[in-house]
Amino acid sequence: MPEYAFIGRSNVGKSSLINMLTQRTKLAKTSSTPGKTQLINHFIINDNWYLVDLPGYGYARTSKALKAGFSKIIADYIGNHENLMNLFVLVDIRLEPQKIDLEFMNWLGENGVPFVIIFTKTDKLSTNQVHSKYSAYKKILLESWEEMPSHFLSSAETAVGREEILTFIEKTNKVFRK
Ligand code: GTP
Ligand code: MG
Repeated sequence: MPEYAFIGRSNVGKSSLINMLTQRTKLAKTSSTPGKTQLINHFIINDNWYLVDLPGYGYARTSKALKAGFSKIIADYIGNHENLMNLFVLVDIRLEPQKIDLEFMNWLGENGVPFVIIFTKTDKLSTNQVHSKYSAYKKILLESWEEMPSHFLSSAETAVGREEILTFIEKTNKVFRK
């Protein structure tokens, strides 16, 4: 069955986004403390496809060994899942572009892993601020990407982006079944 995984720095809102998409408040466990998700959790949707919650990367307070373990878990997961249709790379819209995210996206590009960026927590900014943050991010990405990678704006609070993300998944499921 096709899989869609959510990845990004700790606390960016991966688990919250899964709950928002599935309209289940407690399916994926969330926390205001980073490092909540420590294992790979598969959630089956409509007996038909999987949403996959991955541990966050770049959480400074986990030990070095643990961090290396996380990177390995993530790299193994990406390398060993033929049915991984797309990776959603979550980025907190409020923050300056983070080196770890930019490097990770470059690594995905080099390894031919399909991904889409989801800018999270848009409810925390005004529309103007969202536009200006988005433009700044795009500018940085265009330094290493020929065109802007596909992306969505989202909020787990207001469900902005829900329809677009689910439509994208449905379309991609059709490609899988062909
Ligand atoms: P780890 O599992 O630790 O890697 O974190 P995560 O990426 O799964 O983040 P999680 O969904 O647990 O959310 C972290 C915190 O951000 C929680 O306090 C959430 O309530 C909050 N949060 C997540 N998404 C949003 C959002 O769209 N808007 C707002 N306002 N808060 C959000
Ligand atoms: Mg989580």
